[in-house]
Amino acid sequence: MATSAYEPAKYDPFSQDAMANPLPFYERLREEAPTFYLERYDTWVFSRFQDIIDVLTVSGNAFIASETTLPTPEILLHHNRGAVSELPVDPVPNGAMTGSPHFEVLRNAHIKPFRPTYVRSLADFVRKLANERLDELLPKKRFDLTQDYGGIVSASVICHLLDMPLSRAGEVLELVNSLSRTDPDKGGTDVATTVGRCVEILIEYVVKRREAGADGSVPLIDGLVQLGYYGRPLTDAEVATQLVCSFIGGTETVPKITAHGLMELNNRPDQMAAVRKDLDRNVPIAVEEMIRFCAPAQWFARTAHKDVSVAGADIRKGQRVIVLFGSAARDEAEFDRPDEFIWNRRIKRVLSFGTGQHYCIGIHLARLELRIMVEAFLRRVGNYSFDLDKAVRLPSSFQWGWNSLPVVIG
Ligand code: HEM
Repeated sequence: MATSAYEPAKYDPFSQDAMANPLPFYERLREEAPTFYLERYDTWVFSRFQDIIDVLTVSGNAFIASETTLPTPEILLHHNRGAVSELPVDPVPNGAMTGSPHFEVLRNAHIKPFRPTYVRSLADFVRKLANERLDELLPKKRFDLTQDYGGIVSASVICHLLDMPLSRAGEVLELVNSLSRTDPDKGGTDVATTVGRCVEILIEYVVKRREAGADGSVPLIDGLVQLGYYGRPLTDAEVATQLVCSFIGGTETVPKITAHGLMELNNRPDQMAAVRKDLDRNVPIAVEEMIRFCAPAQWFARTAHKDVSVAGADIRKGQRVIVLFGSAARDEAEFDRPDEFIWNRRIKRVLSFGTGQHYCIGIHLARLELRIMVEAFLRRVGNYSFDLDKAVRLPSSFQWGWNSLPVVIG
C-alpha cells in the first residue's frame, strides 16, 4: 500500500486499514503528528511513550473514563461540546469509569489477590495447570497455542480466583473471546453487551460468596461484598460489575502474548539457543520483551472533565484522549530498533501495562503466568513450528493479537 495511505490524516482506530495493521500508522504519527487531533471524534491521540505518561499522570480527576476506556465509534462521534458530568454512584457503576475517590475505593476492595505476595502463592497452582495442559496437548502433536494452552491456563486461574469450577474455563475463554471481537464494519467493541454478559455469569458466584459469609478466603469477591463505603452493602449486580475488568483482562491478553512470544523466539534460533542456556534465569528476561513486542492491547481512552494542557495539546472539557500503547511499545525515542525482537533487550520503562491511576491491576499475575507457561513449554518441547496458513489475527481496533496460532510439535 502506498505510504500516503498511512499519513496521520488517514488515521482512524476503527478504519479497516488500522484494524488490519496499525503499526505503519503509528510510525507516521510519532514522526509527523505525535499529538494528533482527530476531529471526527473530537479526540486527541498520543503516540509517543513520554507523552502518554504525561497524559495518564495528570491528576485531580482531569481525565476520567466516564465514557469507558474503550468507547465505540458511536460514542465518539457524539461530541460533548463542553463539560461532562461524572457518573452517578447509585447504583455503583464499574469502578474503572469513575474518578477519585470512588475509583480507588472500588479498586482497593478487590486488589488483594493481585498483590505480589498473594500472586507468588499461586505459583505452584499455575505451574501444575500449565504442565497438566501440556500432558494433554503434547501427545496430539498439533494444537492452538493461544487458545488450547495459554487460554485454558489463564481462564482457569481466573476461575480459581472467583471460586468458580475450573471445568468452566473453556466457557469463560469462549465468552471473553467473543466479547473482545471487534465489529468488522463499525470497528468498535460493544462494551455494554460485554459487561451485561459477564455480569450474568459472575453474579452467581457473588451470591454464593455472600451466602457463605464472604470471610475473605475468596478476596477477589469478598472484599467487595464486605465493602461498607457507600453506607450500605453493594448489591450482587454492583459487585459483579466491579469484577468484569479482571474477568476479561485476566483471560484475554496473557494467552496471546504466550503464543506470539514463543513464535517470535522460535523464529530466531540464535536467541532461542541463548535463552535455553539457562531457562530459570533467561525466561523472565525474555518475557519482558515478549510483553513489549506482542502485547495486543492497542489503546485506551479517557474523557476530559477539566481543561488541560499537556504534551502539546490544549484539551477542552468534554474532549477525549486516546493513548496508543501499541505505538509507545515501538517508540524509537524509547527503544533502540523497536521493530526488532531482542530477547534480552534492556527495557528501562514499561508502558504495556499502562500507567497512572488505571495501571494494570493484573501486572504481577500476568508476569507470573507468562514466565511459568513459557518456561514449562520450552522445558518440555525441543522443536516446534507453526502452521501460519491456519493462524488467525483478527482485525481489531483494540486487541490486535494472534487469536489462534496452530503449533506443530517435533
Ligand atoms: C500481559 C498481560 C496484560 C497486559 C499487557 C495488560 C495491559 C493492561 C493495560 C495497558 C491496562 C490499562 C488500561 C487503561 O489505562 O485504561 C490494563 C488495565 C487492567 N488490567 Fe491488564 N493487562 C494484562 C493482564 C491482565 C491480567 C492477568 C489481569 C487480571 C487478572 C488484568 C486486569 C486488568 C484490569 C482489571 C485493568 C483495569 C484497570 C483500571 O481501569 O482500573 N490485566 N491492563
